[in-house]
Amino acid sequence: MAPGSYIKIADEYKSFTLDHFCVPKHYEEDLEDIMIPWGLIQDRIERLARDIFQSVKDQPLTAVCILKGGYRFFTDLLDKLTALNRAHGHVSVPITIDFIRLKSYENDASSGEIRIVGGDSLSSIAGRNILVVEDIIDTGRTMIKLLELLAEHKPASVKVASLLVKRRAGQGVTFRPDYCGFEIPDKFVVGYALDYNEYFRDLNHICVINNAGKEKYRQTATK
Ligand code: HPA
Ligand code: MG
Repeated sequence: MAPGSYIKIADEYKSFTLDHFCVPKHYEEDLEDIMIPWGLIQDRIERLARDIFQSVKDQPLTAVCILKGGYRFFTDLLDKLTALNRAHGHVSVPITIDFIRLKSYENDASSGEIRIVGGDSLSSIAGRNILVVEDIIDTGRTMIKLLELLAEHKPASVKVASLLVKRRAGQGVTFRPDYCGFEIPDKFVVGYALDYNEYFRDLNHICVINNAGKEKYRQTATK
């Protein structure tokens, strides 16, 4: 199948119950169901790695991880890409990596402006083929802003790999990445490094949080 294709998880998807899989005891009460088990995530990433490998071949690639949510997808994707590099004797992709965080400008959340925190100097992306690795595309606004920021530094190309894309109620999908694992229903998901107020990153499966979980880990006002 062509790059850009994805597994669509229907609104009335058949979920997996917690008692058929292993979840940490500290989250047992906080989850509705398992949407995507860890093993299926791995199998899908294996294919995304193959699609990326076949389209970039021997072109050098800079893979940019969007922290924190993208860290597990990034490491698993890179593991699988480097396994392909080892296995193919006649062609391989030279890979460099970088890690960035995105912050919205405080005091002006409505502007939707973001800034990039950490990582190498952006001037180093000039002339390079960039692969942005993200956990989830929800409104799509952050990704569109990021691509605008990156374009200012004249990379040779920019592709986006996102493990998840959310189908937003009434809007559908607003941004389609070049490589996508799963298109998911409009539910708040956690696990596999996706968080709710920093919790649930230490959960392997992608799960739907329940109301008790939302309540338990609700952000308490600090200001
Ligand atoms: N889960 C975690 N982080 C997110 C989500 C989600 O469903 N959507 C946007 N960021
Ligand atoms: Mg993210």
